[in-house]
Amino acid sequence: MTATAEEKMLTPAIDAFIEKWKKKPGNLIMILHRVQEEFGYIPRQAAFEVADALNIPVAKIYGVITFYHFFKLTKPGRNQIAVCMGTACYLKGGEDLIKECERILGVGLNSVTEDGEFSVEAVRCIGCCGLAPVLTVNGEVFGDVDTKDMKKIIDQFEGK
Ligand code: FES
Repeated sequence: MTATAEEKMLTPAIDAFIEKWKKKPGNLIMILHRVQEEFGYIPRQAAFEVADALNIPVAKIYGVITFYHFFKLTKPGRNQIAVCMGTACYLKGGEDLIKECERILGVGLNSVTEDGEFSVEAVRCIGCCGLAPVLTVNGEVFGDVDTKDMKKIIDQFEGK
């Protein structure tokens, strides 16, 4: 599938990035990181355009996206809540934090609220085990979180 100029999704900046990385080893991961940085996930159209640009099958791209936990196939919420489910956080109640998030927002794990404001995901250890249980919202770390704190944390980001 070749994208026409009108329906093209990749920005000139991403095109330039692809051009720079095109012939280097490990380029696909780097390029997909750049795409996700731009859109917050890997849109289907973008995956096809990257495949075109690198002259590789789109299946290879989906193989990478689905292998690495980091890549997202669906558009996340404007505010991304990531609850750590690494061992330390799990043992200190990470699962309860997820349940409380789901209860407050009315969505399941890996889903986005209807208004697109929040998405919730479980992630692996983020390296702050001493603060367990830990979650992040848009990359901001909250440590030693109790289920009672969840509403207050979420309210900080609502509508901002
Ligand atoms: S297990 Fe949660 S930060 Fe390490």
